[in-house]
Amino acid sequence: LVMMSIMIYIQRLLVMLVWISAVTCLPSSVPHAWEEAAEEQCHCIPPLCPNSTGCLAGLVRDRCDCCLECGNIEGQPCDLDDSNNFYGRCGENLHCRVDIKDLGYGDIPEPQCVCQTQQALCGSDGKTYQNICKFKEAAHRNTSKELSIANDGPCQTVPQIKLPPQNQMNVTGKDVIFLCEVFSSPMALIEWKKDENELSLPGDDPHISVQSRGGPMKYELSSWLQIEGLTKEDVGTYHCVAHNKLGSVTAKASLIVF
Ligand SMILES: *[C@@H]1O[C@H](CO)[C@@H](O)[C@H](O)[C@H]1NC(C)=O
Ligand SMILES: *[C@@H]1O[C@H](CO)[C@@H](O)[C@H](O)[C@H]1NC(C)=O
Ligand SMILES: *[C@@H]1O[C@H](CO)[C@@H](O)[C@H](O)[C@H]1NC(C)=O
Repeated sequence: LVMMSIMIYIQRLLVMLVWISAVTCLPSSVPHAWEEAAEEQCHCIPPLCPNSTGCLAGLVRDRCDCCLECGNIEGQPCDLDDSNNFYGRCGENLHCRVDIKDLGYGDIPEPQCVCQTQQALCGSDGKTYQNICKFKEAAHRNTSKELSIANDGPCQTVPQIKLPPQNQMNVTGKDVIFLCEVFSSPMALIEWKKDENELSLPGDDPHISVQSRGGPMKYELSSWLQIEGLTKEDVGTYHCVAHNKLGSVTAKASLIVF
């Protein structure tokens, strides 16, 4: 009886082993076929690759890791998993990021290419570039001019007026505001002057006020001149004077009161 039960036990064990191997073998052949189909779509023949020229953010491998194509530039959408399946890969010095702080309620996060460093630099053309990616874009855009990096950080220059004050006219009793935006490194000081007067505003004039603050961009400065309750005496030319240790620059606007 003992021998019988041992034999039945072995028999069952064998049946079970056969069954397990059958089960584990069958489904595994299905993903294999699927993988082969996917690889077939990516048949790589390098001589047939198109020539990609004029790429602003350099070259990256395509979806099949085969041909080289243009990388996406800063601000363009991209595929978060670096798969290059839909939007494509970010170019050199860029990575794919979702900017969560810019998301509103219910917005779908949109990954986009962001420069890896946000350090400004000065080009040999005397222009300040926001980061290395913007610099490379400019260099790729115009290959005839040999653009190189003059120094890290912004170019040291006399201040540049980014947004000059606008001419204005209004009736007595109203308020006007002049705005002046300046880019400068080293940082500038902005003063407002009227006509040929040497004294800067507001002086002791209670209906004039001046306010300055940094921005809107890095290395920029914005200044507002406000005149409240216009009178005929306010007619004239208003100067926005920006100066640093390298020099000074002026932009002017006229005010007409009637
Ligand atoms: C790509 O450019 C090279 C040299 O500029 C040329 O020899 C080649 O035939 C081009 N290939 C294609 C697919 O246009
Ligand atoms: C490229 O740079 C050269 C030299 O600075 C300039 O003369 C030319 O106009 C530029 N071309 C473009 C398309 O910006
Ligand atoms: C005059 O100033 C007021 C604000 O004080 C402004 O709303 C209005 O548009 C101005 N008029 C003109 C002609 O600029």
